[in-house]
Amino acid sequence: MRIGVLVSGGDCPGLNAAIRGAVLRGVDVLGFEMIGFMDGWRGVIEGEWIPLDRAAVRGISPLGGTILGTSRVSPLTPEVGVEGIRAKLAEYGVDGLITIGGNGTQTVARILSDAGIPTIGLPKTIDNDLAGTDYTFGFDTAVSIATEAIDRLRTTGESHRRCMVLEVMGRDAGWIALHAGMAGGAQVILLPEYSESLDQVCAWVESVRDRDRAPLVVVAEGFKLEGMEHEVTRAGLDGFGRPRLGGIGEVLAPLIEERTGMESRATVLGHVQRGGVPTAFDRVLATRAGIAAADAAAAGEWGTMAALHGTRLEMVPLAEAVGRLNTVPEDRYEEVRRLFG
Ligand code: F6P
Repeated sequence: MRIGVLVSGGDCPGLNAAIRGAVLRGVDVLGFEMIGFMDGWRGVIEGEWIPLDRAAVRGISPLGGTILGTSRVSPLTPEVGVEGIRAKLAEYGVDGLITIGGNGTQTVARILSDAGIPTIGLPKTIDNDLAGTDYTFGFDTAVSIATEAIDRLRTTGESHRRCMVLEVMGRDAGWIALHAGMAGGAQVILLPEYSESLDQVCAWVESVRDRDRAPLVVVAEGFKLEGMEHEVTRAGLDGFGRPRLGGIGEVLAPLIEERTGMESRATVLGHVQRGGVPTAFDRVLATRAGIAAADAAAAGEWGTMAALHGTRLEMVPLAEAVGRLNTVPEDRYEEVRRLFG
């Protein structure tokens, strides 16, 4: 059996460990021939791939990024579409696909699979917003990096008695902000799922200032200030007038300063939290997911995705993973407030 592997969407730490897990199990143990398409669907469309064997994956687990490259190219265009992908895979002699990606990628995987193209999903994203699995690899590393940033911001914030605002990634789900904020002891944690008013944010900042000297605010990039969506969007336009993600931290810090009189500074962590060496947890999760995907291919369990349930790695139907997001539930958000009142 010839299996094609690809990575699509934003990269994250752990991708290489997942590829290695699938290849060592698939090629060495199950006897597959495996190839890796370069830059996601672009490689499928343009016919660019590399052979994946033991030598290709030797020593790659600790490496960030992906040896296969990635892109946000979608195959579901009028020019390509499901039939175009079917034809390409037939041309390359590929019997099945392992698609490593987040929500967008697994949505495509489901469409292909429903159309009879044998596909297995392998979930990844630093945002941890993919449904059907408890955690995605990449998340733990991003949280570690964001936590270290908080630890560092705290000492400089306390020295100067400033309000430090850290913006982390998380467009639709605030898992990174929630976990890093809790691990780093941030007193204000702002998530895309729960709008807050500027009055409320400033009330929290002022109570921390009076009690703890230097407030630390962690804000996810998708957070919206209640009643101020318009202003925030305007402030978040890039040089070409397009809405820019990643602007909320820089919008919030001056507003806090203006309203509370407390000197405030913003740091946008950006892609630092997506690059570099994966944590041991992410390497283990990614390796296990890779092994599970190869086993599922051998068993003909197409149309499924490798998911973590508690400590168990299980295959779930792709339909369970797509069409909805794993967002932060209210009780997890309220838990943070229980620390600070
Ligand atoms: O999907 C993961 C993510 O990290 C989001 O949190 C973020 O909005 C996005 O990727 C940014 O991706 P890029 O800069 O690669 O387009």
